[in-house]
Amino acid sequence: MKPDDFQFLATLVKDRSGLVLTQDKAYLLESRLMPVARKRGMKGLEDLVASLKARMDHALADEITEAMTTNESFFFRDIKPFDIFRDTVLPNLIKTRAAKKSFRIWCAAASSGQEPYSIAMVLKEAAAQLAGWRIEIIGTDISREMLEKAKAGLYSQFEVQRGLPVQHLVKYFKKHDDLWQIDASLRAMVQYKEFNLLNDMNALGTFDVVFCRNVLIYFDQQTKGAVLEKMSKQMTDDAVLYLGGAETVLGISEAFKPVPGLRGVYGRAGGNGSLGDGAPAAGAMPKPAAAPTGFAKPKHMMEGRAPKGADAPARPAAPAARPGGLPPRPAGPSSGSPARPLPPKPGIKKP
Ligand SMILES: C[S@@+](CC[C@H](N)C(=O)[O-])C[C@H]1O[C@@H](n2cnc3c(N)ncnc32)[C@H](O)[C@@H]1O
Repeated sequence: MKPDDFQFLATLVKDRSGLVLTQDKAYLLESRLMPVARKRGMKGLEDLVASLKARMDHALADEITEAMTTNESFFFRDIKPFDIFRDTVLPNLIKTRAAKKSFRIWCAAASSGQEPYSIAMVLKEAAAQLAGWRIEIIGTDISREMLEKAKAGLYSQFEVQRGLPVQHLVKYFKKHDDLWQIDASLRAMVQYKEFNLLNDMNALGTFDVVFCRNVLIYFDQQTKGAVLEKMSKQMTDDAVLYLGGAETVLGISEAFKPVPGLRGVYGRAGGNGSLGDGAPAAGAMPKPAAAPTGFAKPKHMMEGRAPKGADAPARPAAPAARPGGLPPRPAGPSSGSPARPLPPKPGIKKP
């Protein structure tokens, strides 16, 4: 691909979504955009660029942007964030929102729904304590295709084997031909909306918990900072923000600070919350000595093997000693790291 064409497309995608494509991702652009070009009877990316330069077709530009998103997700991704939600954040919400009996959760990069449905399953398991509560889970994403899949709640055998405890599969899913569909009661717990994180967030309202995991890694520092700044304004004083394992607010935004002891969880700077300002969570359950997660890790996670086509491999297992007494190789990037070259779009788009 000509450098000018690459630059044109990379700028278009960055302006519309915040996603940064560096020259070493040219292969990714080719592999993901060739189908878009062919679908329109074009021979290749040169034609695509020429057509957009001649006339900016917004539907085509959206399609290109969507094709360049990485939608990798799985149930109970990284496990720990959901343990923290169940054991600390949720008990805190139950205590601090006891009078109004309501709270709102935002999954800001919901992709195909595994993250909001994981939260919904945690809430279902705590149904006895939440009787009479009004809880909203809003799942947003820039990708319409992913939102459609999320709404349908249909997952392949492979997808339900990634992170989902078998008891949850049996309890909350039904088999339809080759696919598994999550129960209607769980689907009804999540509202999906198309939303671009670059846009004004005011209309979304205020949230008590925000999951914004494994999306900021694809943005540059300035965009990450701007998104976090806006997001902080949509959160209650004591709200908490979850970021992905390879993401942080440190050096990027002053709007949040890490909650001590809760990895990946951030509170609003200057917030008055029991979690957000690092004070012990009101109603937090005492930590068991060896905290059982209750969520079984799928085999590939335990062995540090990433499934084929995954953009973000599961957390690697402890590095093994190398033959000949060599020290172990350093661990690879954590889940969601953009340092790893991205493979072609995983099959997630077409279950
Ligand atoms: C790797 S997935 C993360 C899914 C989930 N949060 C998780 O951690 O498993 C990243 C998602 O961010 C979405 N995304 C990328 N840019 C976005 C933007 N500007 N606004 C909203 N969503 C965006 C993509 O469409 C994709 O579904």
